[in-house]
Amino acid sequence: MRVKIIGSAAGGGFPQWNCNYRLSRAARAGMAGVQSRTQSSIAASANGVDWVLFNASPDIRQQIAQTPELQPAADAPLRSTPIRAVVLTNADVDHIAGLLSLRERQPFAIYATAQVLATLEANSIFNVLDPAIVPRRLLAAEEQVALCDAHGHETGVVVESFPVPGKIALYLEDRAHPDADFSSDAGDTIGVRITGAGSRGAVFYIPGCARVDAALRARLADAACLLFDGTVYTDDEMIGAGVGQKTGARMGHIAMSGEAGSIAGLADVKIGRRIFVHINNTNPVLDENSAEHAAVKAAGWEVAGDGMEMEF
Ligand code: MLT
Ligand code: MN
Repeated sequence: MRVKIIGSAAGGGFPQWNCNYRLSRAARAGMAGVQSRTQSSIAASANGVDWVLFNASPDIRQQIAQTPELQPAADAPLRSTPIRAVVLTNADVDHIAGLLSLRERQPFAIYATAQVLATLEANSIFNVLDPAIVPRRLLAAEEQVALCDAHGHETGVVVESFPVPGKIALYLEDRAHPDADFSSDAGDTIGVRITGAGSRGAVFYIPGCARVDAALRARLADAACLLFDGTVYTDDEMIGAGVGQKTGARMGHIAMSGEAGSIAGLADVKIGRRIFVHINNTNPVLDENSAEHAAVKAAGWEVAGDGMEMEF
């Protein structure tokens, strides 16, 4: 099983278009140890030919341009793609907007939960992907699903999805009641366990998660690799940076550090490789020379960059 992290930043990317915080400035200036990153997505393939995307980010055109495996093969038909399916882990803009760039009447399959499928259904712009050409399939939780292309041929990639503590998408929040509780444990956000024929162990992809609880710890035991929500280092980081009023928790994202953070919460779980993805442009770990980056590495974690590839 090959897995490529094609986008390692959170919504907005790094640097974000309108962000003038020190980290975005450093990335724009090309400072050593501060690498730009595109928005949240990975690709997986069991045979090196048929690829499945997990999330379709607004940067998908750039991500395909940077990833030869996702481009039409030289001897392929005039219109073609090795992308056979797209799995959506929630309905956030950074995870679904890239679907609009995959128009042009090209067959592939979309897999998502009932909530995410309902969001696609409710927004007619997604009809640029004609369901007769791009079937939308319900991804049932807690079941092994052999992912298939639009025509029903197996890709070789198998997933098991499960709800994780999260939040409904920002644009679905009720604006009249901004202080209401928009958290959701009911499948608005999911994690996926990815395996395939011949793969050595499972890769878990969980780009959004609000809490590490006992159920998640048990599920992750013995994972070959975990790609986990690395949005913020501290819960109040965006407030401290002066760029916003929201905590990580309010956005449905657990912090890396602290007693309730992901590093502590997963410290005693046996996991092969643990890698942070979905990194927000305020997270100090984006600077490889920061104390926070060193702390994360010392705790056994890696910080994903775009193009990172692994084989299982
Ligand atoms: C998130 O991960 O919290 C969302 O991507 C935020 C957003 O929609 O910009
Ligand atoms: Mn996001």
